[in-house]
Amino acid sequence: MFSKNNPNSHLHFFSNILGEEYVFVDQETLQTHASDETEDLKFFPDCVLKPVSTEEISKILHYCNTHKIPVTTRGGGTGLSGAALPIHGGVVIAMSRFDKIIEIDERNLQATVEPGVITQVFQEAVIEKGLFYPPDPSSRGTCFIGGNLAHCSGGPRAVKYGVTRDYVLDLEVVLANGDIIHTGAKVLKNSTGYNLTQLFVGSEGTLGIITKVVFKLLPYPSMNKVLLAPFRSPDKACAAVSAIFRAGIIPSALEFMERDAIDWTLKFRSDINLQIGPDEQAHLLIEVDGNDEETILKDIDKIVLVLEQFDCMDIHFAESEAQKTDLWKLRRSVAEAVKSNSTYKEEDTVVPRAELPVLLSGVKAIGKKYGFNTVCYGHAGDGNLHVNIIKGNLTEEQWKNDVTLGIREIFKLVVDLGGTLSGEHGIGLVQQPYMNIKFPEIQLELMRKIKFAFDPVGILNPGKIFCV
Ligand code: LAC
Ligand code: ZN
Repeated sequence: MFSKNNPNSHLHFFSNILGEEYVFVDQETLQTHASDETEDLKFFPDCVLKPVSTEEISKILHYCNTHKIPVTTRGGGTGLSGAALPIHGGVVIAMSRFDKIIEIDERNLQATVEPGVITQVFQEAVIEKGLFYPPDPSSRGTCFIGGNLAHCSGGPRAVKYGVTRDYVLDLEVVLANGDIIHTGAKVLKNSTGYNLTQLFVGSEGTLGIITKVVFKLLPYPSMNKVLLAPFRSPDKACAAVSAIFRAGIIPSALEFMERDAIDWTLKFRSDINLQIGPDEQAHLLIEVDGNDEETILKDIDKIVLVLEQFDCMDIHFAESEAQKTDLWKLRRSVAEAVKSNSTYKEEDTVVPRAELPVLLSGVKAIGKKYGFNTVCYGHAGDGNLHVNIIKGNLTEEQWKNDVTLGIREIFKLVVDLGGTLSGEHGIGLVQQPYMNIKFPEIQLELMRKIKFAFDPVGILNPGKIFCV
């Protein structure tokens, strides 16, 4: 039914709606949409569609719902949980043509955006107006706003400013049967029935397809200071994190990188100018922002006092914009650097921030027990540790069995510490087997019922988040 020559085929219908040039079945396009940034997984769709309007998506979904065709929505393809992989084939809807910033409303500090806009493009457009859209995943140069909504992305600045969901006021969504709804309103307060807006955020394309979003914005903070603090011991670096908040400071970023994360990244990006001493085993990258230099400097002084209590070594203060850019380039390139080095599994653990040292040492002990290495880094201020399990020289057997047992143990530890499976990468395909560590069956069943209410035929991103 996906044959181009058959006039009754699905492709014929899609071509009538979109125009033939936006219906793709060539090998190269199918291959591009068969994988994202998750491990080395590949699942080929039967066809890729590139609609440009809500009405087109509505017609496609109505048709797919009638013909029981699986539909996977795709943004920038930077996901780390496999949510955009069309594991049952069918149709991939690529959102790249939904790339318009419809309105930046300077009177109300709001913006209306299509989901195919690249996150950084949106951020830069609002900065030009003196406004701030803070969520900034490391992939912001290529990821889409829609993918950020699907996973409730965070990034370094979430520690002070919150995550994607904290900025969403209203969504236009196409439901599985093609109906179009608006979930919220252009208001900062809304106590009007169930909060469907927030239900869609983080739902990974399983409940509907978002076609428009209204965000709230903030005034852009005019200045910041950035520093890199080295430690002999990763545990001490992690322990310093919660002490900074206890000292009364909320930095605009508080990132942790262990030695391997930095070493691998410096090898991967020879354009970063930074020397790391032999005893430096872990680093905290800290940014403080605001509008008043004196206040920022006072906060930095307080932070330095705290860091010294945890035996930090010589702190590197970024003196110029170029040095700040280098430090951020380093931090934002870690995931890519690790990927270029080896196949890896990325676990997006998150715990209350004061438990970070226990989590880190627990992860290392579990790795030792099951025979795998990890490279850890992440948004320490949020207690959000990215644990990269390296395939390296492990056999397929070890990769499948031992590592899976190890991951289960890591997630059990996370949950025991009061945390959960994912802070910002979502559950998608690969984290799904571990959902029963966090949620009892009764809760998974509630989620399945919600899914059924929105998508009774089960066409929307089937096989994601939880086993149906
Ligand atoms: C990061 C992405 C992987 O923090 O979440 O770099
Ligand atoms: Zn991250």
